[in-house]
Amino acid sequence: MIQTQILQEAPFSPHRLNKYASLHTCGNGRTGIRGCHEEAYTDQQRGMFVAGFYHRANATEVTELVNLPDITGMRIELDGESFSLLSGTLMSYQRELRTMNGELYRELVWQSPAGQQFKIETRRFVALAPLALVACRLTVTALGSDAHLCVSTGIDATQTNSGRQHLNECSVRVFDHNVLQGCYQTTDGQQQAIITSRCVIPSGASSSFSAKNRQLLQHISLPLQAGEAVTLEKFSWIATSLDADAGPDNTWAQRCLEALSAVAQQSYGHLLMEHTGHWQHYWRASRVGVESDDPQDQRALDFALYHLKLMIPAHDARASVAAKGLTGEGYKGHVFWDTEIFILPFALLNAPEQARQLLEYRFRHLSPAQDKARRNGYEGALFPWESAFSGEEETPEFAAINIRTGQRQRVASALAEHHLVADVAYATAGYFQATQDGEFMQQTGLALLKETALFWMSRAVRRHHRLEILNVIGPDEYTEHIDNNAFTNYMAHYNVQTACEYLRQSGHQDEAFFRRAEDFLTQLYLPQPDQQGVIAQDDTFLSKPQCDLTAYKTQQGTQAILLDYSRAEINEMQVLKQADVVMLMHLLPAQFTPHCQAANLRFYEPRTIHDSSLSKSVHAIVAARTGQAAQALQFYREACRIDLGDEPHSSDDGIHAAATSAVWMGALMGFTGLDYQSGELHFRPALPQGWRQLQFPLCWRGSRLKVTIEAQQFTLRKTDARPLTVRVNGLSHTFTESLILKGSHDEI
Ligand code: BGC
Repeated sequence: MIQTQILQEAPFSPHRLNKYASLHTCGNGRTGIRGCHEEAYTDQQRGMFVAGFYHRANATEVTELVNLPDITGMRIELDGESFSLLSGTLMSYQRELRTMNGELYRELVWQSPAGQQFKIETRRFVALAPLALVACRLTVTALGSDAHLCVSTGIDATQTNSGRQHLNECSVRVFDHNVLQGCYQTTDGQQQAIITSRCVIPSGASSSFSAKNRQLLQHISLPLQAGEAVTLEKFSWIATSLDADAGPDNTWAQRCLEALSAVAQQSYGHLLMEHTGHWQHYWRASRVGVESDDPQDQRALDFALYHLKLMIPAHDARASVAAKGLTGEGYKGHVFWDTEIFILPFALLNAPEQARQLLEYRFRHLSPAQDKARRNGYEGALFPWESAFSGEEETPEFAAINIRTGQRQRVASALAEHHLVADVAYATAGYFQATQDGEFMQQTGLALLKETALFWMSRAVRRHHRLEILNVIGPDEYTEHIDNNAFTNYMAHYNVQTACEYLRQSGHQDEAFFRRAEDFLTQLYLPQPDQQGVIAQDDTFLSKPQCDLTAYKTQQGTQAILLDYSRAEINEMQVLKQADVVMLMHLLPAQFTPHCQAANLRFYEPRTIHDSSLSKSVHAIVAARTGQAAQALQFYREACRIDLGDEPHSSDDGIHAAATSAVWMGALMGFTGLDYQSGELHFRPALPQGWRQLQFPLCWRGSRLKVTIEAQQFTLRKTDARPLTVRVNGLSHTFTESLILKGSHDEI
């Protein structure tokens, strides 16, 4: 069943340098290194990021995930000619990310401008254990006559975040003529990074060192005998002040040297073998297998699960998932609702302790969220729309300049995109439903639920003899400052209702809170479906004129509409950036009839450009759940192509982390109808045409399940013998070890 797991680069093209640098990132949830070529190219954006390592370059900039000094760059000279894919002739070329073990592999034959041919192989991986280790390997063979190889590599601290330099170089040293170490400090003096590298060079090679202009380099020079492969291995140890064993004592740098020298005793091959073992374990536990007419479906799922492993900081609850994971500078490495709504479900149903950590990240930031609420005149907790390490609001004040108006566009999300508060509560409730983790609920969950509920109770205002929520932005960011956004109101209602339920269950005594909550729940205005089943996105949306979106839909994801209209103009039209009411149907399916869900999908999709990568997959889920399997598959495959499609610049500044997780979510929540928010596992299988089998593991309330869905059979197997009740197509089944239902999807 399992196909080889590789993500191949299409033939080399300088236009796709950065897209593949993002897609081919190596990492381990703690460190991410963009899949750049070893040799330099003018447009190539290198990147090495450590989860949680943020800094603000100066008062005019925003906090961002620091792009750390580079260790993967190599200047390779062959017989005095600089190796570059843009010079000479490329006789053959293969570059792939081996997602089965996270190794980036490249093999090529290059003919230099002087006519000499060389075979060059480069490999690298970021170890799953120890997390600080990065291993690289270069093998060069002169294919014609004898030649000479010079390689310069080391630690390059000229790296910046697109020009913003975050680090001071504190010291650089060479130890024992073979170990390089650079110690860096953020310019505010708050954080440190120590990078230690060591090259294992072939006998017969000579080497020298240089340290200037923030580059600490080793220059290795050696003869190549025709036909004989020469290999150079480089091991690096990336330490930061976030590590448990970090400074401040001055033995920290020494400990880094020792740690590196202990691992560098082993060969690249040996370390890779160990590392592969860890990846195999991950794939065995989490892989989703699809038997489909189109092999791209499996490829997309493997891509998604590979990157999910890279983006979730399983080692550290102080960090969360950035909108681009650790694959690029996009969105400054900030954390959005993407985490709770798109990424957390994967963690929850595969490694629930990681979902718990993601919630703990918010819990740690309860105090700044309470402060933000207070500053804005509310109670409870108002989490920042964009978050980094401190939990303060990090949303930039302005976005790009509007070319048409010449005005810088204000980002209003920090002021009004408040649904995040309910999204955090939604994820908290989901976590408890899937785990029954009472300790978490006591220590963390109840506080999150109560503080978020308090926020909504203070946020709503009495108008028209009911409670309304005014001046918000829903998920659709093309419609700003509107009243009674359906998504926000329903989610706020769910938030308060859930908080009440759990607080009551835990014996919480705050009667004033409960009275206020009851009032909120009965009085909050929840826009109802009209005769066609359509729910108004907000108070004024349905009265706005429609706009022909054909041209923009063909360029979706590029926000091309902003070149023709100002934001203020778009605000006055029925134009959606992304799923909004449809998003609500996805999150709270039990509250809307299938007819209502289908009606809203039908109504809103033609008005949606899908300029956000979070949109398509949600449409796929709702389409699948409402029995429109063919349309669902089309949406789903389009969602899979957000990063994997042919568009050469779709992912230059990093992959779309939430959209990547949504590849997993779309397959499970769409085509199997998986839903767990109610506390019971629900399935409503609806495999699309061309999918013969879908198989995936699930972790549910301490049990490990394996689900297999085929055209004529639904199978659930469990590794323990505790009875479990699940609902399939609305019917309840209790089983111990396995549940096998035969018949077509409708019959079971
Ligand atoms: C979307 C948001 C999302 C953010 C980060 C924006 O374009 O509209 O919903 O949270 O990107 O992915």
